[in-house]
Amino acid sequence: MIMKIAKKKRLLGKVMALVMVLGLLLGAVPVAYGQVSTNGSNSVKVVLSDQGQSFNMISRIVRGQVMVPYQAIGESLGGQVKWDSKARTVTIAKGDTTLALTVGSKNATNNGKRVRLVVAPVMSNNQVLVPVRFVAEGLGYQVEWNNTTKTVILKQKQAVAAKNAPKSGGVVNVYTSRHYGVEPVFAEFTKETGIRVRFTTGSDAALRERIKAEGKNTPADVYMAVDAGNLWLAAQDGLLQPVTSSTLNNNIPAELRDTQNRWFGLTKRVRTIMYNPNRVKESELATLSSYADLADPKWKGRLILRPGTHVYNQSLVANLIATYGEARTEQIVRGWMANEPKFIDSDTRILETLAAGGADVAITNHYYLGRLLENNPSFPVKVIWANQTSGEKGVHANISGAGVTAYAENKENAIKLLEWLSSPRGQKLFADSNHEYPVNPNVAPHPIIAGFGKFIEDPVNKGEFGRLQADAIKLLDRAGYR
Ligand SMILES: [Fe+2]
Repeated sequence: MIMKIAKKKRLLGKVMALVMVLGLLLGAVPVAYGQVSTNGSNSVKVVLSDQGQSFNMISRIVRGQVMVPYQAIGESLGGQVKWDSKARTVTIAKGDTTLALTVGSKNATNNGKRVRLVVAPVMSNNQVLVPVRFVAEGLGYQVEWNNTTKTVILKQKQAVAAKNAPKSGGVVNVYTSRHYGVEPVFAEFTKETGIRVRFTTGSDAALRERIKAEGKNTPADVYMAVDAGNLWLAAQDGLLQPVTSSTLNNNIPAELRDTQNRWFGLTKRVRTIMYNPNRVKESELATLSSYADLADPKWKGRLILRPGTHVYNQSLVANLIATYGEARTEQIVRGWMANEPKFIDSDTRILETLAAGGADVAITNHYYLGRLLENNPSFPVKVIWANQTSGEKGVHANISGAGVTAYAENKENAIKLLEWLSSPRGQKLFADSNHEYPVNPNVAPHPIIAGFGKFIEDPVNKGEFGRLQADAIKLLDRAGYR
């Protein structure tokens, strides 16, 4: 079709308009490279129509090819992804298929067989973007593109779907706001137990509202969320039931689960100080060890924070209130504000801004740096574990976790899923999929984040972040941190 268009140039305008309207297949809609912003703000929706799931992915359209991060597409389709920084090669493996793509090269391979790509993978904002069509088709999906809604629709080819059909063992339905890399983890659980996992993604609050509205008829057996504040709210609203399980109690330290066993932490994320080593002097580092130190006037105009409306910061402040009291916490937060921070509502962009020299210090979750380092081991940002010195209680660690819903129809399978996720095998897969720390103390963290060094974490029960959330929001407001 494109060839015909090229021949009949005078018809090009008309035909292109038609193409735009009809939203034809991927590859039919050329978009000039320069038209697409490079700050990662463009996104496409990728829908797995068989599973009823959808993912928003950062994207670029290059010469009509939709390019997305290899990790996001690979893991969403149940593949295991790897990045070889030396060879600048990405591999995506699923079942007996292995795809390999190299940054800057149009030569890719499918099980060692060479395939010529229309567009070579590119490195953009420290992420490797790959053509979605090559990856999806290689892993057994049919690909459709809706240009109007900017949606990639993927459907498993029949033979592949039949091969992947789960064995018997019943089902467990999960509502999850944690979507990054969950599918391969659930697939492994199904492989080991025969229990099929059906999952629905959405925002934490929206999923809670949905469980509330569905009441006794909710299909959800498990509510899975990021941030302890969300789990606490679900328990508070009566959406979760207590679970007695010695496996969960043995695998998960007490401060990472609800005192009434309604939710359980499954991975840990640490919100701490990040800095650009090319811009912060040794002498300055010597006096930078706590959240309170960021209130020092020497950081004026040099600090980036995420807005105070974000739950990550509300939990951080709730943690500080629980451990150091309101007065001391307010003093710290007011000090940050006095330093006139730059506000950026994305941890990844905060780290990219630090790396680019747009500021010198910041507070973010550790795993965002893990991701960036995976793509670029020399990414110029370093971690300081906050509040490690004597007199301090340790760094702020939050959790992602889950609980069994109050009206779970598949309660036994729901408990089995939580137990499996807390086991060494489940922990390794679940934590590594997002560069988080395992909650199970017998499981080693991914080498990249192990490289950040050991730390002491504040032993406060994570339920406090929920209990003190309203106080934290009020404090942030009073201190002018919005
Ligand atoms: Fe996050």
